[in-house]
Amino acid sequence: MPATAVIGAQWGDEAKGKIVHLLAREAQVCVRFNGGPNAGHTVTDALGTARLHLVPSGALYPHCLGVIGHGVVVDPWALEGELGELKAQGRSQPRLFLSERCHLILPHHRVLEEEEGTAARLGTTRRGVGPAYTERTARQGLRLADLRHPAHVRERLEELARRGGGFDPHAVARELSQFWEGWSSSIGDGQGLIGEALDRGEHVVFEGAQGTLLDLDFGTYPYVTSSTTTVHGVGWGTGVRVELDRVVGVTKAYTTRVGEGPFPTEDHGAVGEWLRRKGNEYGATTGRPRRCGWLDLVALRYAHRLNRFSELALTKLDVLSGLEEVKICTSYRVGGRRVEDFPATVEELAQAEPIYQTLRGWKEELARARSPEELPERTRAFLTWVENAVGVKIRWVSVGPGTDDVIVL
Ligand code: IMP
Repeated sequence: MPATAVIGAQWGDEAKGKIVHLLAREAQVCVRFNGGPNAGHTVTDALGTARLHLVPSGALYPHCLGVIGHGVVVDPWALEGELGELKAQGRSQPRLFLSERCHLILPHHRVLEEEEGTAARLGTTRRGVGPAYTERTARQGLRLADLRHPAHVRERLEELARRGGGFDPHAVARELSQFWEGWSSSIGDGQGLIGEALDRGEHVVFEGAQGTLLDLDFGTYPYVTSSTTTVHGVGWGTGVRVELDRVVGVTKAYTTRVGEGPFPTEDHGAVGEWLRRKGNEYGATTGRPRRCGWLDLVALRYAHRLNRFSELALTKLDVLSGLEEVKICTSYRVGGRRVEDFPATVEELAQAEPIYQTLRGWKEELARARSPEELPERTRAFLTWVENAVGVKIRWVSVGPGTDDVIVL
């Protein structure tokens, strides 16, 4: 299977890192195509738990080249910090290649994010991601390729510093020039590199960051991130017309969200608390407690329509063990009307009352299950219910944090 995309089907944090890591076992290349260090992809393997923000999850394997496509905004300081953490875990340096067309996140972007009020209003990850994309669209950004021209970089930084942001343009220019010295041989034509790998028939995994409902256009605008998080981001963020053999949608067995914005199945009571505690639902990038609630099939069907998943990976199924009953939202009621399709405005979503199908829960812990036969009948009934309602096969079920804690169905 040469080309596989892994896409979040919810509001991010679906445990995509783990699924990408699993799929990249046999991949030569793993590509990030959207977002930036706002992502927090967690991979647990024999060396411990790695929290990846810019490094593609497949690049933890020495056989897999990690490529950062031009759709990703790169913070050189964050990248160096992340590599330092991996090294401290005793991991070998991942092999990385960065598109020269990646825009840079610079120190003033974080300052702007606070000053403009977007950080507080949207509950962003405060990594400067939004302002970097804004500058890119305003045609004012700096790209990795610009680092070949230090005089130009200095001029641009001086100009930016005159406008505010409270940073020393000379110090930043010096640090960027050091970054370039270390990295120039790994920065270049990412589009060409990915295209050639596909032409050679290599297995390439495209690793989506965030999730479908955080997509700039199709998510819960304006409570979204600034990039294309759906499968369409593969072309958007690499420049390659990829014929994908598989599009794997990743969903939790329930729903979580961090930051502000509508969330119809959010549970403020005991169930939400249970999911947060048992699922350890705290942000991988910011440590914030995540908002939690039942699985939302209106949203999942919408994600399927946008991404045309070839299969689903359903994660954190083990978290539901012990609940008396398990609910699944099948439609909404908005202003007295029954709604089956995910509404386009946050106003409608804020009014949406979930209509639930209630299934009987199961008591058995699932962490040791490794085959479908080892799952309780009620758990299998839950999976069948979801499959039939969405119309996509669930191929993987994850029942624990490790790469091997997965059941193939
Ligand atoms: P930003 O991407 O930092 O601008 O944040 C915009 C919104 O996307 C906020 O609600 C964030 O919490 C959310 N967000 C960004 N990245 C992630 C992620 O990797 N997982 C979950 N939520 C995210």
